[in-house]
Amino acid sequence: MPALVAHALTRRFGSLTAVARASFTIERGEIFGLLGPNGSGKSTIIRMLCGLLRPTSGEAEVDGIDVVRHPDLVKPRIGYMSQRFSLYRDLTVHENLQFYGQVYGLRGARLRSRRAAVVELVGLADYLDRLAGLLSGGWQQRLALACALLHEPRVVFLDEPTAGIDPVARRQLWDLLFELSASGTTFLVTTHYMDEAERCTQVAYLYLSRLVSCGKPADLKALPVVHPPHTRWLRLESPHSSQAYVLLKQTPGVRRATIFGEALHLLVEETLEAARLSATLRAAGLAATEPAPAEPSLEDVFVALTEESAAERR
Ligand SMILES: Nc1ncnc2c1ncn2[C@@H]1O[C@H](COP(=O)(O)OP(=O)(O)O)[C@@H](O)[C@H]1O
Ligand SMILES: [Mg+2]
Repeated sequence: MPALVAHALTRRFGSLTAVARASFTIERGEIFGLLGPNGSGKSTIIRMLCGLLRPTSGEAEVDGIDVVRHPDLVKPRIGYMSQRFSLYRDLTVHENLQFYGQVYGLRGARLRSRRAAVVELVGLADYLDRLAGLLSGGWQQRLALACALLHEPRVVFLDEPTAGIDPVARRQLWDLLFELSASGTTFLVTTHYMDEAERCTQVAYLYLSRLVSCGKPADLKALPVVHPPHTRWLRLESPHSSQAYVLLKQTPGVRRATIFGEALHLLVEETLEAARLSATLRAAGLAATEPAPAEPSLEDVFVALTEESAAERR
């Protein structure tokens, strides 16, 4: 049995369709990434799957439970970390854990042992008496995750868990997710970070309420829409990547360019010689590595999917 199945899940708010017929399946132990621009429907999908918001139509099963018919049976089986800060800032770390544990129905020895387990898991032992509101962003998110895991949920929903925290804290939080998924917990995570999307077992991309694509990162990168006929992907690095970007984007034969820090991804026509690009940069006095064949990034994939989806709507 999959951990989660959504079938044609739809939610309207008045005349606005926030989610239109989203279907996907998540197997146990997966880390499923949900990506898409602001307002594309990510949080609405999570709220429906948690049994907090009734779908207008469609169905979903979470851990074998029908969320539309039995929303109250779903809640004890899931963990939910909302997009907004969900902790009590004027309670200590210990008090937050105690409070959330009780909300989840844990008492006595069971509450004590689960509290100890999550504290150990997220490494909060030295902070128990600290006020939650005084923790750094990364530690607040760890505490929020600890709270969401207290009752040993089988499926955990994390809505932008790493928004606004530093790269080291982000990586540490992801290492935790991997550890937990290895022991069978299933995660549905929303994010805007492409490096996080790359680490998911499956990624779904939402655009204007519609799920435009869903699959393993490697499979998405192989989609035909990302590889128009007679084109190829190249990558080069330059300390002047933004100037190089401006210049190369206007070069005939370059269909698309994207910057990633010092790297530049280019979708070029097959007939365009890499040496031509190097020469263009050299002429402008911009140092760069030789353009080399590359695979598209997930960001390249999402840009292509967005353009295709927008074109279909015209
Ligand atoms: N309770 C609500 N009432 C009316 N509109 C809503 C409500 N919740 C969300 N929306 C709208 O639904 C759309 C999707 O929102 P949301 O799921 O929060 O997107 P995301 O999480 O991808 O940013 C947005 O246009 C938002 O304004
Ligand atoms: Mg949201």
